Amino acid sequence: MSNSDLDQKAKSILIENDQGGYTVPTKGLYPYQWNWDSVFVALGFATFDQDRAWREIEMLFEGQWRDGMVPHILFRKDDPSYFPGPSVWGTNGGPIPSSGHSQPPVAATVIRELVDTDVTGLAHDRALYRAGALFPKLMQWHRWFLAYRDPDDLGVIAVIHPWESGRDNLPDWDEALRAVEIADIGPYERKDTSHVDPSMRPQKADYDRYLSIMAACRAVDWDPAEVARTCPFFVADPGVTFIFLRANRDLLSLAERLGRDAEAEEIRGWIAKMEAGAKTLWHEGLKAHVAFDERSGKLTDGISSASFLALYAGIRDETTMASLQAHFDRIASKVRYLMPSYDPDHASYEPLRYWRGPVWAMINYMIARGFAEAGDTTRAERLRADTADLIETGGFAEYFSPETGAAAGGGTFSWTSAIWLSWASPTHAEHAA
Ligand code: GLC
Repeated sequence: MSNSDLDQKAKSILIENDQGGYTVPTKGLYPYQWNWDSVFVALGFATFDQDRAWREIEMLFEGQWRDGMVPHILFRKDDPSYFPGPSVWGTNGGPIPSSGHSQPPVAATVIRELVDTDVTGLAHDRALYRAGALFPKLMQWHRWFLAYRDPDDLGVIAVIHPWESGRDNLPDWDEALRAVEIADIGPYERKDTSHVDPSMRPQKADYDRYLSIMAACRAVDWDPAEVARTCPFFVADPGVTFIFLRANRDLLSLAERLGRDAEAEEIRGWIAKMEAGAKTLWHEGLKAHVAFDERSGKLTDGISSASFLALYAGIRDETTMASLQAHFDRIASKVRYLMPSYDPDHASYEPLRYWRGPVWAMINYMIARGFAEAGDTTRAERLRADTADLIETGGFAEYFSPETGAAAGGGTFSWTSAIWLSWASPTHAEHAA
């Protein structure tokens, strides 16, 4: 397929996965609205329909809970082909049936992007107006992260479930997950393994624990303070932490443009706290940021693709920059396609199992932005070119093998299409140049 055919194909995937204002990640495997998927999808729509891009994010925020949380899944209509559905989550925190935790907060960053790219006259005013309407909701969501995912004020953000990280099956969760006692969860039937090859999906022992964490949160009625205090899983995640820190910088830029002085001051405080807090995640032996299990007090021992997001978060001191460049080159000498989700030199690395090795397009996009902003356009371009190659050969798959480039997981994936349109496509790169 030529690049312009691929552009067409990417557009048509977004249009086909559109459910009337929100987009499913892919039909079958993921039949609902997912939080960070939708936000990346907005970047894709923005390349041909700005209004539809805003709508995607606005619909996500329709599901915001009374306490400020924006859920990771909105179950707008029941679909028996997905497990665990709304009755297993048993939540009651917002206007739309939903899961009980959040996902990486990329929204403020993408909203800023939508405002920045819509630079002309009337359209820009309209974009700013829509950003203004979302602004208080973003503030509430960010305050929620600080209150309930960093209750001890460490300046890092924890996840209460591997799924909250968006990187569901990452080796970093293994040890903390093993410490979760399996609750009386009764028999259940997974649906994911009937949609895709079970050898690429999490194992049953993991699934039992995923459901046990949910049972523990249900037992406290998903009360956020109680969840933070008692959840058996509470791990500070470099992915969410860096995405949140970055999002705060973009939220600050919006606050300044919207004339929200008090909020701008509040956000500056968050940024300072998180910049200092990020040091908690630094692993001196590995020379990278890793996860930190707040229950056991232990750092994890592997470099994941999120370690590279330090640059995207604006942490660009010499040590971080030099270490990440060295890790980048080392990993590039091991695999053909960057950036594997886990270090290929680590014992837990598996090139095709969910989040234990495969490459995700939207992670590459964020890492590349970080490198580019830090002045390293060579490594940024390498990530873009690899992402484009993977899509040109494997199509708009959920993820890819870093070794062979084989497409894996679900097909006709929305965020892969969106990232192609907004960043990876050579057509786009030519326009941007
Ligand atoms: C998986 C991914 C998660 C994503 C969801 C829908 O659960 O790990 O990040 O949001 O699929 O694509």
